[in-house]
Amino acid sequence: MQTSLMKITPRPEPVMCRGAGSYLWDEAGRRYLDFIQGWAVNCLGHCPVEISEILASQAGTLISPSPALHNRPQLRLANRLVEYTGLHEVHFSNSGAEANEVAIKLARKWGQLYKGGAFRIITTSNAFHGRTLATMAASGKPGWDTLFLPHVDGFTKVPFGDVDAVAAAVDSQTVAIMLEPIQGEAGVVMPPENYLVQLRKLADELNLLLIFDEIQTGVGRTGSLFYFPSVGVQPDILSLGKGLGGGLPLSATLANARASCFEFGDQGGTYNGNPLTTAVGEVVLETVAQPRFLSTVRQRERYLLAGLKQLRQSYPIVDIRGKGLLYALVFDGDVGQQLADHAFAQGLLVNCARPNVIRLMPSLRVTEAEIDQFVETFDQCLRVVFS
Ligand SMILES: Cc1ncc(COP(=O)(O)O)c(C=O)c1O
Repeated sequence: MQTSLMKITPRPEPVMCRGAGSYLWDEAGRRYLDFIQGWAVNCLGHCPVEISEILASQAGTLISPSPALHNRPQLRLANRLVEYTGLHEVHFSNSGAEANEVAIKLARKWGQLYKGGAFRIITTSNAFHGRTLATMAASGKPGWDTLFLPHVDGFTKVPFGDVDAVAAAVDSQTVAIMLEPIQGEAGVVMPPENYLVQLRKLADELNLLLIFDEIQTGVGRTGSLFYFPSVGVQPDILSLGKGLGGGLPLSATLANARASCFEFGDQGGTYNGNPLTTAVGEVVLETVAQPRFLSTVRQRERYLLAGLKQLRQSYPIVDIRGKGLLYALVFDGDVGQQLADHAFAQGLLVNCARPNVIRLMPSLRVTEAEIDQFVETFDQCLRVVFS
């Protein structure tokens, strides 16, 4: 299709015009079962009534007073996030990359104040932290090492899962360790047992900040409100995004009292903490934080996993990995894009995260019937690709 859009990704021809729950519709009236959900963003599904209602009422009340004035939804959401995470202060932004920029700035400021100007942050290979220049430099996505040179300095990459490599990379300029506790864009790579606990220990011993990027794993995605409490590790800085806004551009950076060191003028942004998106964030967080909501996510995880294991019996799936409703199927060949294309043609949206990996990130409200439909449709795609 001829469009006036810059070429940043190959998009299929259909134009999407409506969403409801687990489904999307294109302008031709075709329905798609959506196991991507705006890239793990629509945690309550497409256009949930709670979000439509709060958007309508907040849009009629107050949209953008100014980031330099208080507004009630922002104050309430900040309090809730502090309460739920055990961290101390919050800064709101509009995207995951921005939330990570704030995390990086906090670490650098902390290094200036308390660590003799140390600024280097240890990050992991295959990490994904966003697409601003600094977050690209922090990321380890294959191919990015030669893009948009020169890179922002100050990031040292080590293999994910290797505590010794982190310890070996620390020098007098190191201020923090930053990672996704589960690597999402890398294809849902789980941390080895005790890895995060050992990183916490190392950070404490060496007086480093530990930064968790839970932009993909936070807000119920892994079956608990955040992933870090489930492994018993508290970060110093936490970034949230995606699910927090339930489809609206909202992200947050949280820090404990030790790391929350901004002074006036250090950070800002026109749309930061506007009441329209923070009111939505409040509704999303209160919905997801309900114990019954989260136990249903875990129950749906078991149901999905059973379906995935059933598929594994018939096709060369070498690994199934993930947590909650963030899962990946790993194949022994580079069939991911072919499978995702076949799925699209069958009215099913799945993501090819790596050439050999299919990633699933359905709505946290996905039903058993929708999971059945996914398994049945994906089975047909597997049959075509592997016949
Ligand atoms: C772990 C993680 N961090 C950061 C980002 C960047 O978020 P955004 O695209 O909202 O800037 C993503 C997006 O996929 C992500 O998965």
